[in-house]
Parts: sequence; C-alpha cells; structure tokens
Amino acid sequence: MSELELFYADAPADIALADVDLSRLPRHISMIMDGNGRWATSRGLDRSKGHVAGIDALRDAITASVRLGIDVLSAYAFSTENWKRSKVEVDLLMKLFAKTLVAELPLFYQENVRLEILGDLSDLPKKTRETFEYGISETSGHTGMVLALAVNYGSRREIVRATRELAGLVAQGELDIEAIDEESISSHLYTADLPDPDLLIRTSGELRLSNYLLWQIAYSEIYVSQLLWPDFDRWELLRAIRAYQARDRRFGGVKA
Ligand code: FPP
Repeated sequence: MSELELFYADAPADIALADVDLSRLPRHISMIMDGNGRWATSRGLDRSKGHVAGIDALRDAITASVRLGIDVLSAYAFSTENWKRSKVEVDLLMKLFAKTLVAELPLFYQENVRLEILGDLSDLPKKTRETFEYGISETSGHTGMVLALAVNYGSRREIVRATRELAGLVAQGELDIEAIDEESISSHLYTADLPDPDLLIRTSGELRLSNYLLWQIAYSEIYVSQLLWPDFDRWELLRAIRAYQARDRRFGGVKA
C-alpha cells in the first residue's frame, strides 16, 4: 500500500481515493476557510476555539494536498476587512498565526513545503510579521508544494498596488503603456510566480468571493462546501476534486 493509499484508508461511504483521477488533479487549489466562528458558537464555545479547531483542518488539507501531489495550495487566513473584528479576536488570530507557524515548521521541513504570503505583512504586529518572514526564509529552498497564505490580503488593494507599480514604471519611462497587458498585470500581483487557481473551495455554504483573488480566479472552478471550516478534512477535499474533475472546463471556448 502506498503512502497516499494509507493516508486515504478508512474511507467514508460516499467517497474514496479511487473516485478521483490522479492524473488530472488541479495544479492550484485555493480555499476560503469560512465558518470557524459559527462552528464554535454552535457548540456554545468562544469564537477563538473555532479558529484553533480551524488549524487542525488546515493541517489536514496541507498534508492531503502534499500527498496527492498538488503544486500549490493557497488559503485565505486574514483579509484586509478582518481588522474590523473585535480587538480581542484580531489579537488572538495574530498570536495564533505566529504560534501555529512555529509549531508547524517541522511539517514544512518534513513535507518540503515552501511558504509564501499573499498580502501586506507590514501592518501586522511585529512578532507575527517576523514569524512569517522567518517561515518564508526558512522554507525558501523547499521544492515541494507551495503553501500560499493570504494574510492581510484584499484583492482590490492588490490590484491598486499593481496599478501603481505599473504607472510608476510608465512615469519613469521604463514601460510603454501599450506594453501593459494581462501578463504584466499578473506579474505585479502577490501571486506573480503562481499559476492561477484551478479549483476554488469555499466552506460554510456562503456564495461570496469576499474580495479574494478576483483577478486570478477568472476561470477557476468553484466548489462550495456546506461544511464549516473546522469540519473540513481530506475527504471533503477529495469530494471537491471529484466535482472539479466532473466539470467541463472550456475557458470561454466550445467543447472540442
Ligand atoms: C473564517 O471564519 C476564518 C478566519 C477569518 C480565520 C482563518 C484562520 C485559520 C483557519 C487559522 C489558520 C492559521 C494559520 C497559521 C494560517 P469566520 O471567523 O469568518 O467564521 P464565521 O463566518 O462563522 O464567523
């Protein structure tokens, strides 16, 4: 039995590893991890417990993606709008990010995962920022899966930033206006070195994009999971991949 088969043993009734075609996996899977708060409050717990439980779900998704051979896994951890939450919750999330990253670094070594951050780290508390920077530099030589965490990320802000950079190049005479195209815009986004997501998963049944990777998901297949994020696991990831593989991706064209 291979490591992957072992990891996916004990299948529930509705899904098994054999239900997905391992030769047609999405290259980049992106996840909007939603529902931590509801998961906790529905159990009479503080919202913070939902975020703590969400870390276990993220770890399982990372491990499953590595085992499957996914090239890029990205996840929305904190949006530019999340600063509107209570100070207590924001502080807790910032501490949790730093603590989790330190605790999970051995997993990144073991699985050869390279960490990338999508977003602006400069607004983060010093310790959290430095921990992310440490994680990025420690894993920069890793050649396996890229884990791109969107932290203090907002898609519109990202596009404004790219536009300013391009306008600056034009103003300095380094770029011709006519040379601005989809590729040059993509190359000024946080995701410059990543392929666009093939599959976007959003949990908790919400039908929103929440200012997430708006440019990059132009042709992504979307899978909305009814599970709250802390309940997400390797099996739901397989269900999402199965749904993705049943889609007919035409990229605006017609079926051959
Ligand atoms: C959305 O649920 C979740 C978040 C805003 C935080 C996501 C963070 C984690 C899963 C921890 C990940 C850790 C690292 C190191 C990246 P919500 O609070 O919006 O849930 P609700 O919609 O039910 O209120």
